[in-house]
Amino acid sequence: MVSRVIPVDPFDLVIFGGTGDLARRKILPGLFRRYMAGQMPETARVIGASRSEPSDAEYRDFVRAAVEEFVTEDRDDAALSQFLERLHFVSIDAKGEGGWAQLADLVRDDVIHAYYFSVAPSLFGDLAERLHKHGLADNNTRIVVEKPFGRDLGSAKALNATLAQHFDETQIYRIDHYLGKETVQNLMAVRFGNVLFEPLWNSQYVDHIQITVAETVGVGGRGAYYDKSGAMRDMVQNHLMQLLCLIAMEPPSRFSPDSVRDEKLKVIRALDPVMPHHIVRGQYDGDGDTVSYREDAENARSLTESFIAMKINVSNWRWAGTPFYLRTGKRLKARTSEIAVVFKDAPHSIFGEEAGRHRNILTIRLQPNEGMTLGVTIKEPGPGGMRLIDVPLDMTFADALGPDAEEAPEAYERLIMDVIRGNQTLFMRGDEVEAAWAWTDPIIEGWEGRGEAPKTYDPGSSGPEDAQMLMHREGRRWRDIRD
Ligand code: BG6
Repeated sequence: MVSRVIPVDPFDLVIFGGTGDLARRKILPGLFRRYMAGQMPETARVIGASRSEPSDAEYRDFVRAAVEEFVTEDRDDAALSQFLERLHFVSIDAKGEGGWAQLADLVRDDVIHAYYFSVAPSLFGDLAERLHKHGLADNNTRIVVEKPFGRDLGSAKALNATLAQHFDETQIYRIDHYLGKETVQNLMAVRFGNVLFEPLWNSQYVDHIQITVAETVGVGGRGAYYDKSGAMRDMVQNHLMQLLCLIAMEPPSRFSPDSVRDEKLKVIRALDPVMPHHIVRGQYDGDGDTVSYREDAENARSLTESFIAMKINVSNWRWAGTPFYLRTGKRLKARTSEIAVVFKDAPHSIFGEEAGRHRNILTIRLQPNEGMTLGVTIKEPGPGGMRLIDVPLDMTFADALGPDAEEAPEAYERLIMDVIRGNQTLFMRGDEVEAAWAWTDPIIEGWEGRGEAPKTYDPGSSGPEDAQMLMHREGRRWRDIRD
């Protein structure tokens, strides 16, 4: 398969928080991968900026170490040395004037400027203001902002208003890295590039939809942040909500940023408030090998959830009557993310009772082993009458596309290149984020008001027993969590 990597236009990318954890783990290794793939033009430059004071040479050592740690497969060390030459560092004071003149000298006029705010949201306003003051922002400027984008509707609105003082919405790229995952985009290709699924994609044919994002890691190391967020703010309000939108939305008229985002927004606005008995919150316990959530978070009385399962109704013509079940959690039995569209039973079985109950399930796997499986019912081979069995029509993308298929870029790589290209389709618009908080806030206020404690669950399990009950009492069951 011929490489179809198209280099983007020349750019200067400034990473505020350039020595931080996200830069080290994702942004810088991701840029290097794009460099190896030939997508970064020769003249592109990356400028790290933070309060610390490394020289260019020390910063390059930092980046070299990050790349060596996180790009372990097929790393081209000669390319790494060339990539490092594109790097610079400026020590900058977000709240003062230090370093800004130096940054202004470094950033070139005639290229695209992207400023990545990989810093605490409390600094967004200061950075935006100083970029303007020092003449660093023009029509070729984009800013990239990381989650968490607020912790409720009020703070998200305030952040949007602050950014809007200095930048147009078309210049603001709010990252939700789930939108950069290969299979998430494939969801749109599958839905809107085939005639097969769309006629069945509604409450007449779909019994329910399950979205699971399960992790095996705990919150150790990020406990202080996580304990103020919990699974609802950390995962549901953004990542799972985006997945739900892509599954539930109407076909946009074009694959263009606002057409897609308009349709997603309509879904969020159609979500019903969630009843307390449709929510199960959990917190992982410790065992001999791993410590409990409360120990990880260093908060012995924490009421924060590391697991949540919920039933959501989308009140519109397409989905009324088809529940969406969402669950996500830490320290579960496997790392796996998948969406399962569970279709209804055939209206009448010509094969009689003994043929049993068979359902088509379309499973979309985000990770690991990205791909799709469609469960279909066939006759069990051999003599002995008509016995039915379910078999998977399995399409693991890596197998289906063959060994020469281009390796899918990681979410961050793709999204950063989209920023340079000026394509906002896979980024959240301000009104979308606000609508998601408007739906989330009353849910959180509800359990906080009731002083509810999450149920504990064993590490390595599927979450609290009550989460199973959420489905069982309606005659449904979660799919097994396995990788
Ligand atoms: C982040 C959350 O946004 O997504 C983390 O803050 C979570 O808590 C992570 O672990 C999961 O991302 P991925 O790509 O590993 O599924």
